[in-house]
Amino acid sequence: MATPSADSQRVFAPGIFRDQVAIITGGGSGIGLATAHELLRLGARVAICGRNAEKLEAARTELEATAAGRPDAVIARPCDIREPAQVEELVRAVIAAWGRADILVNNAGGQFPSPAQHISPNGFLAVIKNNLVGTFHMCREVANQWMIPQQGGRIVNVIANIYRGFPGMVHTGAARAGVENMTMTLAVEWAQFGILVNALAPGIIRSSGTAQYPPQILERGISETPLKRAGTVDEVAASIVFLASPAAQFITGATLRMDGGQSLWGHTWEIP
Ligand SMILES: NC(=O)c1ccc[n+]([C@@H]2O[C@H](COP(=O)([O-])OP(=O)(O)OC[C@H]3O[C@@H](n4cnc5c(N)ncnc54)[C@H](OP(=O)(O)O)[C@@H]3O)[C@@H](O)[C@H]2O)c1
Repeated sequence: MATPSADSQRVFAPGIFRDQVAIITGGGSGIGLATAHELLRLGARVAICGRNAEKLEAARTELEATAAGRPDAVIARPCDIREPAQVEELVRAVIAAWGRADILVNNAGGQFPSPAQHISPNGFLAVIKNNLVGTFHMCREVANQWMIPQQGGRIVNVIANIYRGFPGMVHTGAARAGVENMTMTLAVEWAQFGILVNALAPGIIRSSGTAQYPPQILERGISETPLKRAGTVDEVAASIVFLASPAAQFITGATLRMDGGQSLWGHTWEIP
């Protein structure tokens, strides 16, 4: 099946996010960077964070080209989401610069394939801290500093295809299942503040992230995906943007699976 062009996913009206501010964790590469480009094109100001300052600077240059004619539409700031003090500082800096924080995309994350019995206690904890605890720090900080006092906001949590366990990556499966449950809880607790909280569960996406995996893992995943191809980062960005947009204003606590049918069929991982 042919991969669609990025242009074919451009369905939102230009300017739909004008005057809004989005924070995208892990916005220096892959899905986060594609989402940053799309939100900028649609009029938002965008703050990206990650741990690697060099990568963030390269992303900033790209994003500033997309934001041409709008100086001051991009913030790129190092922040490790596992560290509550850094998260607090990031959110404070964005609000100090732009006076608001309407959208939070929790996209930062990382994991490594390994049979469960070979994952060390530290390795397991590292992935849980990154993919679950870091996401909580971000939600809490943005909610307390802006969304709760201002009575509104959108949070989109990027998770993964966890619907038949996550054989081959037990740590991230557990973390993402935690984020999905947290998404439902926050959606209910924060509905009174006008904050909508949703998750997005991508299947196999060709990105800077999956480029790190052995190619056979990707190929096997694609062959076991009903649509018989990997998704693109632009397709994921389009779904994230949908969940942050006015088109989704009666959706909260939901997870959108965008996986070419992978969660319903097939065996992604070879179990050694
Ligand atoms: N690609 C897929 O097939 C797929 C499928 C399902 C889910 N996902 C998830 O989607 C998200 C984006 O994936 P991707 O494919 O675009 O991979 P990626 O390029 O590796 O993106 C992950 C980003 O998160 C940042 N990050 C990691 N740990 C961080 C931390 N502690 N604090 C701040 N930033 C951190 C990384 O930057 P630094 O290293 O500089 O911090 C990187 O920019 C990830 O959470 C991934 O697990 C991807």
